[in-house]
Amino acid sequence: MTKLRAAITGIHAFVPDYKLTNDELAKMVDTNDEWILTRTGIKTRHILKGEGKGTSDMGAEAVKGLLKKTNTNPDEIDLVICATVTPDMQFPATANIIADKASIKNAFHFDINAACSGQIYALTTAAMYIESGNYKKVIVVGADKMSSIVDYTDRATCVIFGDAAGALLLEPTTEDVGIIDSIHQADGSGRIHLHQKAGGSLKPASHETVDAREHYIYQEGQAVFKFAVSKMADVSVEMMKKHNIEPDDLTWLVPHQANLRIIEATARRMGINREQVMINIERYGNTTSATIPLCLWEWESQLKKGDKIILAAFGGGFTWGAIYLKWAYDGKKE
Ligand SMILES: CC(C)(COP(=O)(O)OP(=O)(O)OC[C@H]1O[C@@H](n2cnc3c(N)ncnc32)[C@H](O)[C@@H]1OP(=O)(O)O)[C@@H](O)C(=O)NCCC(=O)NCCS
Repeated sequence: MTKLRAAITGIHAFVPDYKLTNDELAKMVDTNDEWILTRTGIKTRHILKGEGKGTSDMGAEAVKGLLKKTNTNPDEIDLVICATVTPDMQFPATANIIADKASIKNAFHFDINAACSGQIYALTTAAMYIESGNYKKVIVVGADKMSSIVDYTDRATCVIFGDAAGALLLEPTTEDVGIIDSIHQADGSGRIHLHQKAGGSLKPASHETVDAREHYIYQEGQAVFKFAVSKMADVSVEMMKKHNIEPDDLTWLVPHQANLRIIEATARRMGINREQVMINIERYGNTTSATIPLCLWEWESQLKKGDKIILAAFGGGFTWGAIYLKWAYDGKKE
């Protein structure tokens, strides 16, 4: 029997209008454009404004646009997986809320929390549902309203993160395209360097936790940087070796956009050129689960059937991994 693979057959994204510049951040904390740009590569990030707007609002916009672009009836969707660390609420899953807002009625839905690796963990999970032969149309949506957990008095974290959502449609194929392989790893001891201290069962929300600013991202930047540089590069190089991919053979590296220096170090270790790497961190910052779909969405018109692509990510947990895929269609779907 011919093996089924999961192919990405459509992509869409949503970026909120409000653009937060480095100069504006310099009015909020002791920082400046030059420091942010040289240390992170970020110039602007977008922020979701407005009372009563959460991660699901961005996710639903991305999914509705995806359904329209791919001419897909919402009733045909079998499964929606949402990767997020900023769910609308502790429960139900944000995927449930997104599916409801996008009028998806015949699917089941759940969230995956793997921090900045959420998108690739979710893609691998979705691919396995497709490969089983029982599911024909699966949506993976990566959405994060990072501004809801960023402490805008902490200059070391508030410059990094932005809000956005991206959605991918996966369908079965027997052609030589689609998701070929994935390598995922995790090390829970890394949690000490990057986490949110309160709001979970370990330390439920209280006046004290709010006063201590414990509902925001806690990050030891240098420790995270060190792990991210080595792990994202290690796993990407491992994927190249496993599939005999020479640097010239790889069409694109799509790295999680956490810090330009991490991306450049990964590309150097892989032996590839700057032109082979999708980078848009300067405009969006780190949008956590949305960075990879945001890149694919922006580069969609340049992508061709058969392009060899490695997706790579590193995130809180620690979590990291890489996916090797061959792109399934030419150019942009309108
Ligand atoms: C956070 C990060 C940008 C900080 O850059 P860095 O080069 O490691 O900087 P350091 O933390 O060593 O800080 C150096 C100095 O800059 C200062 N600094 C931190 N943020 C600053 C800012 N926004 N503006 C100006 N100075 C700042 C620090 O206070 C420190 O000052 P000191 O030397 O007087 O103590 C970087 O560590 C990073 O990107 N880490 C990975 C984060 C990440 O990827 N997270 C998501 C997981 S996927």
